[in-house]
Amino acid sequence: MRRRGGKGLRANSLWRLVPYLRPYRTRLIVMFVVALASIGSTIAIPLMTKAVIDGPVRHKDEHGLWVLGASAILLGIAEAALWMLRRWLVKLASTGVETDIRKQMHARLQVLPMSFHGSWQSGQLLSRIMNDLGMMRRFIGFGAVMLILNLIQVVVVTIMLLAMYWPLGIVVLISIGPVVAANLHYERQFTKASRAAQDQTGNVATQVEEAALGIRVIKSFGREDYSFERFDEQARTLRDIQLRKVKIMSRFWTLLEVIPTATLVIVLALGAHAVGDGSITLGTLVAFITFMLNLVWPIASLGFLLSMLQETVTAADRVGEIFDAPREIVSGQRDVPITSGRLEFRDAGFRFPDSEEWALRHLDLVVEPGETVALVGATGSGKSVLTGLVSRLQDVSEGAVLIDDVDVRELPLPVVRKVVATAFEDPTLFSMSVRENLTLGHPDATDAEIDRAIDVAQAGFVRDLPFGLETRIGEQGMSLSGGQRQRLSLARAVLAEPRILVLDDTLSALDVHTEALVEQALRSVLAEATGIVVAHRASTVLLADKVALLERGTISHVGSHTELLATVPEYRYLLAADDEIDDAEHDETWLSDDERDALDEGVLVGMPTERSADRRREDNCEGSR
Ligand SMILES: Nc1ncnc2c1ncn2[C@@H]1O[C@H](COP(=O)(O)OP(=O)(O)OP(=O)(O)O)[C@@H](O)[C@H]1O
Ligand SMILES: [Mg+2]
Repeated sequence: MRRRGGKGLRANSLWRLVPYLRPYRTRLIVMFVVALASIGSTIAIPLMTKAVIDGPVRHKDEHGLWVLGASAILLGIAEAALWMLRRWLVKLASTGVETDIRKQMHARLQVLPMSFHGSWQSGQLLSRIMNDLGMMRRFIGFGAVMLILNLIQVVVVTIMLLAMYWPLGIVVLISIGPVVAANLHYERQFTKASRAAQDQTGNVATQVEEAALGIRVIKSFGREDYSFERFDEQARTLRDIQLRKVKIMSRFWTLLEVIPTATLVIVLALGAHAVGDGSITLGTLVAFITFMLNLVWPIASLGFLLSMLQETVTAADRVGEIFDAPREIVSGQRDVPITSGRLEFRDAGFRFPDSEEWALRHLDLVVEPGETVALVGATGSGKSVLTGLVSRLQDVSEGAVLIDDVDVRELPLPVVRKVVATAFEDPTLFSMSVRENLTLGHPDATDAEIDRAIDVAQAGFVRDLPFGLETRIGEQGMSLSGGQRQRLSLARAVLAEPRILVLDDTLSALDVHTEALVEQALRSVLAEATGIVVAHRASTVLLADKVALLERGTISHVGSHTELLATVPEYRYLLAADDEIDDAEHDETWLSDDERDALDEGVLVGMPTERSADRRREDNCEGSR
């Protein structure tokens, strides 16, 4: 799996946030008014100081001192209260924006095609939906507000300083130049490092996720050390990138600390001289210095805030990449009712996006309503890909898949997904109750319907769970056995009462007896629906009315099981039991050694021979037919 490369910084990434701020605009406007008032009081305090020193202190006016002193205290209290109010208002808005974007992002991930999910590591998605959005919230709630307020404060205070005593004001103004220069100098390096850090965070998340999900494999091979080393490597890389970031920042911040302090020293010296000259009063100098001290934090924090801005642009960019990923599978507009569920592949072909080779080509197959087709083919021959075309997990690259003579791409997606239900070969369950897992495709199923689906899938074991249907099953149904998960997944598909039921090798983990019971019950379900059953065993094939043999990406033969068995050696090769092959070799009517070798070449070329481990039970089922 790989991560799609970044498309580079887009300055408009942040502008895309604006629509999300809209619902909170009243709150944000009130917040800004409050913030401006609090800046006003911050600025008023030095002016009061000046008035106190040049007035009551100088003239030894005790009454005036009390009045002005009390007002200064009130002003201080008002300033603190305004700050608190501002923080509260902005936090409400920023957490709201974060939640809104997160919800949309989740919705987006649900509609993105399988090819997107195949090429993105889930850790990258996780880190974007958690860390990057968190970064954006912190910026909206703190960084952006402080950046704007600090800039206003710097501008207003500088103007005040110039107005108070312009020669000193000029000194302060000049000192702002190097700050801007330093900013421009470090910005590019920092942006690069922060993108690398955020991407690497995604890689670390992927490692953690894989280690947790694959813990059984890791433990059983005793490779905990190896797993740790892989994690350690990623974690170290992240640390190195973080250190690089810190290095850049520390140089930058040093400059930002040094410049205002040096300016203060100069202003003090020149100011003392001016007071001696009588050009300014002592009160003015004290006010000047207090103003300057007010400038130190806004200027010094500018670096921090600008780096935060950079990180947020990076974060917004990373989030934007998900929103910008093409949907590919878009809903059609022809809302015609699907009544019978006739399924047709018309010269359908499929190629994976990055591949030159056709996975499937020139597929022609019709499944009439109520009919069931067994799909047989060697492992890796494209059976799962074919079934995915029906529910539009992927779209055909050429030709068409039609339901009731309507191209599936013209039907609205919700209709397709309602008409088609699939039980996948890898039965994924979610960390929720059994009932919620079962009713995923039919949320308002009645208890009777649920009971029937459970019976069809022979999943009665769920009734014996500690809390029955309300038992929460662990992450991915880990607390259940493979066969139990398969049966729940089958019950889930059956419960959806689809017109078209697709079973992708859903019975592979069941024992012979359970499989026979499931098959018996499935017959009634399949009689009412159009069925595609992927089969590796003769017993499953017998569920179907006809069989389609998938070879080299196309359907080479269609016919009844007995017909194909009698006339198509490749079919016999795939479905006949190993012991039968051995027996057959003895009575020499089956195939010669040369013919066997040719089939090995032809049918299993380049494919793992897992099937040979699978004991098939054709005799059994022939008997039960
Ligand atoms: N995302 C993908 N990108 C590229 N090739 C893929 C992808 N997924 C599957 N393939 C390839 O497509 C081919 C068909 O895969 P598919 O899963 O349909 O096989 P299958 O017939 O279902 O096999 P099995 O019986 O083992 O389930 C395989 O060769 C596989 O390597
Ligand atoms: Mg498969």
